[in-house]
Amino acid sequence: MATILITGGCGFIGSNLAVAFRKRGDRVVALDNLSRKGSEILKERVEAAGAEFVRGDIRNPADLEQVAGPVDLMLECSAEPSVLVGLDGNDAEFMVQNNLVGSLHCFEFARKRKAAVIFLSTSRVYPYDGLNRQEYREEATRFVPAGTGPGFGPEGVGLDFPMDGARSLYGATKLASEIMLQEYSRQYDLPAVITRCGVVAGPWQLGKQDQGVFTYWLVSHMLQRPLAYIGFGGQGKQVRDLLHIDDLVDLVLRQAERIGEFRGAVFPAGGSAFSSLSLREATDLCQRLTGRAVPLSARPDNRPADVIWFATDNRRTTERLGWKPTRDAETVLRDIRDWLQTHPDLMAAIFGKPA
Ligand SMILES: NC(=O)c1ccc[n+]([C@@H]2O[C@H](COP(=O)([O-])OP(=O)(O)OC[C@H]3O[C@@H](n4cnc5c(N)ncnc54)[C@H](O)[C@@H]3O)[C@@H](O)[C@H]2O)c1
Repeated sequence: MATILITGGCGFIGSNLAVAFRKRGDRVVALDNLSRKGSEILKERVEAAGAEFVRGDIRNPADLEQVAGPVDLMLECSAEPSVLVGLDGNDAEFMVQNNLVGSLHCFEFARKRKAAVIFLSTSRVYPYDGLNRQEYREEATRFVPAGTGPGFGPEGVGLDFPMDGARSLYGATKLASEIMLQEYSRQYDLPAVITRCGVVAGPWQLGKQDQGVFTYWLVSHMLQRPLAYIGFGGQGKQVRDLLHIDDLVDLVLRQAERIGEFRGAVFPAGGSAFSSLSLREATDLCQRLTGRAVPLSARPDNRPADVIWFATDNRRTTERLGWKPTRDAETVLRDIRDWLQTHPDLMAAIFGKPA
């Protein structure tokens, strides 16, 4: 039995990992400041699975010190994960303190306690102008890559993609944390991996428009709330890959098994071309899965930091860990629907009542 500390342990990814590591028989400590709306509900879930809850904020190193005893592995899953936060400058300092300084406190804690680290990072580390400058072809329901370049092609975006350019404050804090963890890992011989995720979705996601978009899209259909195609001409043809939370959990369990081998390796983890949707395709799928249509408006202008197309090139992760996603986009959305249908009280508490 290992002791696993999960920071952000009452968030979507952290709570699903907490349940999975408890099933494996580990001692799990879920540390969270409960800042995400609805995280109290996920707290109940992780406690019911036998995890210990510690209320703490990673911006305060003393809060981490509340975790008693040896820690074998830290899963750093706490963040303000919205790409829109900080864009107008008002929340800039908060974003940096929360996502970068906070992560650094986690890595310091890991160094002192000799804990290995798995850091949940994001595809938002890739610069958006660089992605939007690639060649795309417009097809009936989506944009598709028409050219290839370093780290870019129909397989997806890979680790060789050029990293010059702006990426949003969210992306910048996550990339800076990745670099700091690699430095800690090498300097202090700390086993560590970086799991660089595309969009992750699935049951227990508290989806919002700016974070958890596919869950938000499905819930909006279930509750008959209007939606809008925003940006890239307002046609809903921009594409994201989506990874089922259970596929991500499988990967993290695999990384945990072999963590001793790694000193800061980056593992891309996304739905890839295998599991991707444009918003328009998401609408069709949501209509089919819920039997409901909602009013859809178009707002042609791009939102800041938005990207036209993203799918993850997972080849590095497949080669080194034998992992690839197994649940496609329809399975992801169907599982979210089934989860919400079997938890109507929870759905009302998290997402409110139908329009
Ligand atoms: N969900 C995705 O699609 C996705 C994609 C790529 C990367 N990620 C990364 O995965 C991680 C988890 O994301 P998620 O989707 O579970 O988000 P989430 O918002 O559901 O969970 C984050 C949790 O962290 C907690 N938290 C935030 N700031 C904190 C602080 N200062 N101290 C303690 N707790 C704090 C929140 O209360 C919340 O429970 C994040 O690091 C995010 O960058 C998520």
